[in-house]
Amino acid sequence: MSSAQQKIAARTPLHEASREGLEDVDRIIKGRFACRAFTSRAVPRQIIADILDVARFAPSGANIQPWHVYAVAGAKQAEIITALLQAHEEAREQHASEYRYYASKLPEPYASRRDQFGRLFYGSLGIEQSDTAGRARQTAKNYGFFGAPAGLIVTIDRRLQIGSWLDLGMFIQNVMIAAGARGLQSCPQETFSKYHALLRDLLPIPPDQMVVCGISIGFAEDETVRTGSQMPKAAVEEFAQFAGFED
Ligand SMILES: Cc1cc2nc3c(=O)[nH]c(=O)nc-3n(C[C@H](O)[C@H](O)[C@H](O)COP(=O)(O)O)c2cc1C
Repeated sequence: MSSAQQKIAARTPLHEASREGLEDVDRIIKGRFACRAFTSRAVPRQIIADILDVARFAPSGANIQPWHVYAVAGAKQAEIITALLQAHEEAREQHASEYRYYASKLPEPYASRRDQFGRLFYGSLGIEQSDTAGRARQTAKNYGFFGAPAGLIVTIDRRLQIGSWLDLGMFIQNVMIAAGARGLQSCPQETFSKYHALLRDLLPIPPDQMVVCGISIGFAEDETVRTGSQMPKAAVEEFAQFAGFED
């Protein structure tokens, strides 16, 4: 047993079989990051199908399973990239997401975290806070799926309520973890929701479905894998309180 395994064994009074999975699951969850640089290595259709086949085991209130997915690659993905990049270049103001992702005025501590994200993210790319053109160029990379050879467009029935969006989030996380288990990385992207009208022209999305996000999936560039997530995560004490435990 490695020292890491011994450490885990000492802290987890679990059945042997669960202990084996524990290390893998923790590693994959912690190893996931919003990947924004992929190699062109193809991801076979079967791998995407396998990922979705695992992700569908996500829980959902009353088991209604509110997720819908349009998986794209090759010529269809290229068509989407061309249309969205053109719109982003020429007609950005004419498009809007059908839902609001962020509160208009973020309270603390979220506002500070978002500022920190902006500093770290654009700082690592050498883009100044004030460089709006540079930021727009970076945003445009979203619509190229950051170079990933496969992507998912995720939708939800607009007649459903906020609880179903919780379910959808669990499904999306499952997709990303299942991708991680296959040596792939991913990036969830709400930016795709802005161009839902164009996506409707290119994919068979019925009017009662709302485009929630895209997910780029592929093999991360080596340097990106080495760096992993650049984003700091608040410690457990900052968001959780414990009560009633005996140890
Ligand atoms: C639902 C959702 C939508 C997101 N949309 C985008 C996006 O449109 N473009 C992007 O570059 N990153 C997007 N992200 C990635 C976040 O910026 C990233 O998850 C966050 O900064 C934390 O970094 P990490 O995922 O590497 O831990 C999104 C994340 C989530 C969960």
